[in-house]
Amino acid sequence: MSSNNMGQDFYKDLIDNNRKWVEDKLAIDREYFAKLARGQQPPVLWIGCADSRVPANEIIGAQPGEVFVHRNIANMVIHTDMNMLSVLDYAVNVLKVSHVIVCGHYGCGGVQAAMSNRSIGLIDNWIRHLKDVYRFHQKELDSITDEEERFDKFVELNVKEQVLDLAKTSIVQAAWNRGQELNLHGWVYGVGTGLIKDLGVNVHSDDDLAKVYQLNFG
Ligand code: CO
Repeated sequence: MSSNNMGQDFYKDLIDNNRKWVEDKLAIDREYFAKLARGQQPPVLWIGCADSRVPANEIIGAQPGEVFVHRNIANMVIHTDMNMLSVLDYAVNVLKVSHVIVCGHYGCGGVQAAMSNRSIGLIDNWIRHLKDVYRFHQKELDSITDEEERFDKFVELNVKEQVLDLAKTSIVQAAWNRGQELNLHGWVYGVGTGLIKDLGVNVHSDDDLAKVYQLNFG
C-alpha cells in the first residue's frame, strides 16, 4: 500500500495493486483462488461500520473465506433494514455461522453526529436510530461531563444495543429455538491504537432479553 493513499492518483493504481496481490497469493499457493472458487464456509459474521479505517478482515488477521461481512454507518442492526436482515438470514440459516460480532469503533462519525443537533441531510434518518440509543442511556451518558469520555461510552453502549437488537430478531431467536449454536459478541475497535476491546456482552440465548422480546415458536 502506498504511503500516500489519499492522492488523486490512488485510483489509477487499484487494478495494478490487484494484479500484484493475485501474484503474491499465487506465489504461495497456485491453487489459492481455485480453492476459494469452490465455496465459502465462514464461521463468523461481522457487522461493522463503513468507516474506511475499520477494514473487517485486516484488523483480525482473517483471510478471504473466513468472515462474512456486513457494514453500514455506525454498525447498526435496524429491524427494517432488508439488507442487514438478508445478510443475517443467509449467515445464520445457510452458512450456519456460530459467531456474530458487532464491531463499533471509537471516533465513529455516525455516533458523533447523533450527539449533535446539526442536520446533515438524508442520513439524519439513519442517525435517528442512534439518538434512540442515546435516549435509552440518557442518564448515564449525560452524567459524563468529559465530552470525549461521553463519546466513547456512547460508542460502547451503541454496540451493546445492536447486539441486543440482533438477539431480538426472529432469525436469531429461531436459531436458538432449534438448538443451533449462535454466539453474539460486542467489540469496539480503537482507530488510534489498532486494538479491539471485547465489551463482554456475549449473548447466546433469549434469556438475555427482556421478556417482551422473547418469541415463542409453535
Ligand atoms: Co463509524
